[in-house]
Amino acid sequence: MSKIIVALDFNQFEEAKQLIDKTKDLIEYYKVGLESYISCGEKLLNYIQEQGKKIFLDLKFHDIPNTVSSATVASLKYNVDIVNMHTQGGIEMMSNTVKMVTDYCNAKNIKKPKIIGVTLLTSLDLDYMKNHRINFDSTEEYVLHLARNAKISGLDGVVSSPKETVIIKENLGKDFITITPGIRPAYEQLGDQKRVMTPKEAKITGTDFMVIGRPITKAADPQKAVLNILEELND
Ligand code: C5P
Repeated sequence: MSKIIVALDFNQFEEAKQLIDKTKDLIEYYKVGLESYISCGEKLLNYIQEQGKKIFLDLKFHDIPNTVSSATVASLKYNVDIVNMHTQGGIEMMSNTVKMVTDYCNAKNIKKPKIIGVTLLTSLDLDYMKNHRINFDSTEEYVLHLARNAKISGLDGVVSSPKETVIIKENLGKDFITITPGIRPAYEQLGDQKRVMTPKEAKITGTDFMVIGRPITKAADPQKAVLNILEELND
């Protein structure tokens, strides 16, 4: 069963708090990304934890191996359940981070978070790849290549478009986690997302987690928006 992760893209703690309060009876996972982390990170992460909810810290690290592994270890103080980095940062960056985090968690006897790699952002497409001379014939092939590197490096799974879930699961195994943004109910605007699917379509692909932001956070009634999506998923 695919789980929903609500993307808390806010620049004010109060707005994020209100959204959590309105949806927490229906939602288990919240995602804190760059905007909310920079605006009110510590306060928000503590609040999510106090509500007994799970945290996806979506800071998409991409730097030299030492910096990314140290930053990921530093993020463990927030009891995060999922952390991530860009697979485009390379195998050494990813595997170094897995080792540092695993060693730290073993030494402190704490639960290791799921370490996830971002493949190709769902706002990017073949035009972007051509422009950057990325030599794959399709976004699917490039995403699979990045996902394979993530698996070789010991990551638990990847972020990708729901359009790539099937090919990832077929090639890298059902247990390799997929987290898929780019989810839009049929009645919603695409915004800046390009490689999208409806919640129902994404569920059929077998994805583990769907990240949903604006269709819930910008809704006049966020609780109703979640209920509508859950209804679509359980149909
Ligand atoms: O509002 P929307 O549903 O488009 O939000 C999607 C969320 O998922 C945003 O927080 C965005 O940063 C994140 N994300 C994404 N594409 C990725 C990785 C993360 O859209 N590949």
